[in-house]
Amino acid sequence: MILKTAKSLLLATLFTVGAVAVADTFTLEPLPYPADALAPVIDKETMQIHHGKHHQAYVNNLNGQVDTFPELAQLPLEAIMSRMSRYNDAVRNNGGGHYNHQLFWQLMAPPGQGDAPSAELQAAIKRDFGSLVAMQNAFNQAAATRFGSGWAWLILDADNKLVVSSTANQDNPLMDVVEIRGTPLLALDVWEHAYYLQYQNKRGDYASAWWQLVNWQKVNELYRSATN
Ligand SMILES: [Fe+2]
Repeated sequence: MILKTAKSLLLATLFTVGAVAVADTFTLEPLPYPADALAPVIDKETMQIHHGKHHQAYVNNLNGQVDTFPELAQLPLEAIMSRMSRYNDAVRNNGGGHYNHQLFWQLMAPPGQGDAPSAELQAAIKRDFGSLVAMQNAFNQAAATRFGSGWAWLILDADNKLVVSSTANQDNPLMDVVEIRGTPLLALDVWEHAYYLQYQNKRGDYASAWWQLVNWQKVNELYRSATN
């Protein structure tokens, strides 16, 4: 009887282990702050849907491509971006969606808690744009003029110059399929899902208000590692 019980337990354990799915390659990290922490600039419901539904869908769909491209499971996300021309539209859209949103969440902080650009970054902004306000205006312009869905960026290019750009859909400046390439320092999601509940068609108001959320500590860290 004891032996039989032990055997049953062993079989049950093996069955359970056998039934456990292999861990997903890509996972959705929790937001680095509560969903209501960015209010009143971005409301709680937008954050919950954006992170829990949209970002989750990019993660799920990217995991769905790992069987087709097994190397996705071995490469850092940044390396996948830089060799995007090897893959299909599903990896481009969902891999970009995962990378972009993962960065976007980290680039924001509750209003007033994001600190300020470092002395080094301020000097570089002054050198390449004339002033912080001029850079912000160029960035907001890129956000406003991106037709349809996409992203506005501040990047450091291969010549160590700061550049404002924008990309369509879920493309980003790390991808070898985009025109203007560089290391992302700032990213603004201008898909309607990012702002429509609160701002409706007023993308410009969203972009202007968004500067209250910028997590300059993270931007400074990205700039430091891009210039070292
Ligand atoms: Fe988004």
